[in-house]
Amino acid sequence: MHDPRPDHPSLLTVDDFERAARARLTKMAYDYFRSGADEGRTLRENRRAFRRLEIHYRVLVDVAERDLRATLLGTSVPFPILVAPTAYHGLAHEGAEIASSRAASELGTIFTLSTLSTTSLEAVAAASPGPKWFQLYVHKDRGLTRALVERAESAGYRALMLTVDTPILGRRIADVRNGFALPEGLVMANLADAAACSPAADRGSLLAAYVASRHDASLTWRDVEWLGGLTRLPILLKGIVRPDDALRAIGCGAAGVVVSNHGARQLDGAPATIEVLPAVADAVAGRGLVLMDGGIRWGTDVLKALALGASAVLVGRPVLWGLAALGGEGVARVLATLREELSTAMALAGCPTLASIDRDLIRRTRGSMPAP
Ligand SMILES: Cc1cc2nc3c(=O)[nH]c(=O)nc-3n(C[C@H](O)[C@H](O)[C@H](O)COP(=O)(O)O)c2cc1C
Repeated sequence: MHDPRPDHPSLLTVDDFERAARARLTKMAYDYFRSGADEGRTLRENRRAFRRLEIHYRVLVDVAERDLRATLLGTSVPFPILVAPTAYHGLAHEGAEIASSRAASELGTIFTLSTLSTTSLEAVAAASPGPKWFQLYVHKDRGLTRALVERAESAGYRALMLTVDTPILGRRIADVRNGFALPEGLVMANLADAAACSPAADRGSLLAAYVASRHDASLTWRDVEWLGGLTRLPILLKGIVRPDDALRAIGCGAAGVVVSNHGARQLDGAPATIEVLPAVADAVAGRGLVLMDGGIRWGTDVLKALALGASAVLVGRPVLWGLAALGGEGVARVLATLREELSTAMALAGCPTLASIDRDLIRRTRGSMPAP
């Protein structure tokens, strides 16, 4: 087991890694990773909503051994914390997706590669032996989309995560102000026309311009079925916040859903994901996998999400903070820190197994809302 502590005694929490990352990143890169959409209301809510939940722990349960293992779409993982798809790991560290995927492999968890990675999906598959899923953006160019699916399938990715909350890009003000663009030498390595997206000529966010021109904003439920016909891989729909959409996803053949608001980077004013998770889990009622992401920074957050109906969670920014701070070593430390915090939270809450983490443990705080 990876020990998160030695050598870097100041890097004990995900927030420590964020501070270390901030000190190493350019302003443009830090702002890109950190930002939410518009005024950041949903970004704050993703965290605040966790703080509103208390854990009403049970005592005198034998927790001498804790079992954190989970099986997700046939893949077993030693703990229920996965790597969320995030674009452009090369902005965080030169090791980019090779370093982060190897760290996930080392810890035995699932790495989800973004369509917008700075390393090709084939190179990531060749470099890291662990289980991997591929996040898909459907492009207007359906030939390109189909090719991405075929490439992911033949490179050994075990599931597709179709992102459904990004018909266009939410407005991230800092990126627009900074004229966000990929620095010289970094490209969107999965996309044949990646060169067209290198250093910005224009003002404004280059990513927003890319998404507006290439992503298919006309995507509908019919296309989910189209995608299902293209691949043998299970499909998860990422970006669901409503029970009726979750039910429809399962009805269209999805293997499950990721309750997500894209790390609060799309619709500002969208609910915190932990708030809507219980209703989505109730609607799905075991007919598909329910995962969640958004604002997970502590093992106790993971415990809350598992209690409220998620089979596992994903972390986006924490992985980027680890990567920026210490490369692959930092990613491994962040994942190991969250794993150890979850194990501690389970012990203190009286939960020796994931199955014993039930909804009755969680109550809303009474009284005034805690400070952010
Ligand atoms: C810098 C950054 C880039 C992201 N890129 C993608 C992406 O390419 N595809 C995608 O589906 N989600 C993307 N996301 C959303 C994440 O998959 C995930 O939903 C979110 O980060 C979870 O919230 P957290 O950062 O609070 O853990 C991105 C998030 C961040 C912060």
